[in-house]
Amino acid sequence: AKLLLLHGPNLNLLGTREPEVYGRATLDDIDASLRERAQAAGHAFESLQSNAEHVLVDRIQAARQDGTSFILINPAAFTHTSVAIRDALAAVALPFIEVHLSNPHRREPFRHTSYFSDLAVGVVCGFGADSYRYALDAALARMAAPAG
Ligand code: DQA
Repeated sequence: AKLLLLHGPNLNLLGTREPEVYGRATLDDIDASLRERAQAAGHAFESLQSNAEHVLVDRIQAARQDGTSFILINPAAFTHTSVAIRDALAAVALPFIEVHLSNPHRREPFRHTSYFSDLAVGVVCGFGADSYRYALDAALARMAAPAG
């Protein structure tokens, strides 16, 4: 099956962006380690980062036709603002896990709300780059489980 990893705005700066909050791993590091793990489990893997809301909406819409069976998404700042990305995920009706490096609940009040959490299979946050790894493991367990 195919797994799609989506990253929202400013995550292209990982490694140098507020390292005390987001850690030193770069986006390429994270993508490479998830790709390796997903492929070792026998799945196809694709990742995309965009600073543009419509690019993420278009990619999610395309996932309906391209054989994607599971989405991991760190919507970044769009977590707290984007009805459009939420609606795209609802429209394609693919299972997804919401991922954050930081724990938004420990941070400013405007980060305490998410347009995604109530639609997500689950949410992993607060573990730095490991959040992605834990989310991938959860997705792989779901993808391996027999349907029904
Ligand atoms: C983030 C948390 C968001 O509040 C923030 O806007 C981000 C990154 C995280 O991974 O911790 O850009 O999604």
